[in-house]
Amino acid sequence: MRFICSSYIILAIFGISAATLFRTNGTLSCPLFRTWCYVAAMFEEDTFRFLDDRIDITVTHCVNNANQVSYHLIGDQNGDGFYNSYYEVALSVTHNCTTRWNTIRKVRNQIHYSKVSAKEVFQTWNVQLIDEGERVYDFD
Ligand SMILES: *[C@@H]1O[C@H](CO)[C@@H](O)[C@H](O)[C@H]1NC(C)=O
Ligand SMILES: *[C@@H]1O[C@H](CO)[C@@H](O)[C@H](O)[C@H]1NC(C)=O
Repeated sequence: MRFICSSYIILAIFGISAATLFRTNGTLSCPLFRTWCYVAAMFEEDTFRFLDDRIDITVTHCVNNANQVSYHLIGDQNGDGFYNSYYEVALSVTHNCTTRWNTIRKVRNQIHYSKVSAKEVFQTWNVQLIDEGERVYDFD
């Protein structure tokens, strides 16, 4: 913790990189007329997959009586490390809006590239969920 704090102070003093604010919103549609649940997440993907940075993730929301909901993700990142001058922002929605019983799927958008020097990056992603995405075994 102390190490993390002092790294931020050093970044702040030397102005090595300024933070970029990421915001994403959109709608999730599931016209099945059943209860469905979802988790939406926004990541910054590094060259090394195991270092993926989570920018924001929702809790597991369950929707009882709506075929469409809107979501909002927000968070910041401070430089990409590893020689990159672009952020690679990935979005995913893990959901059980499926016609098969007891199935969870994860749908991803195309990677969105944005300059590390950008102050703010805004994206809208509207997703039709029914049976979309690869099969996964849990919401996280
Ligand atoms: C997303 O944000 C934009 C800009 O703030 C707004 O116009 C739009 O209505 C929002 N969409 C949803 C689904 O909330
Ligand atoms: C999704 O999961 C919730 C909670 O487990 C369950 O109540 C609901 O019936 C599931 N919906 C579908 C479409 O499978």
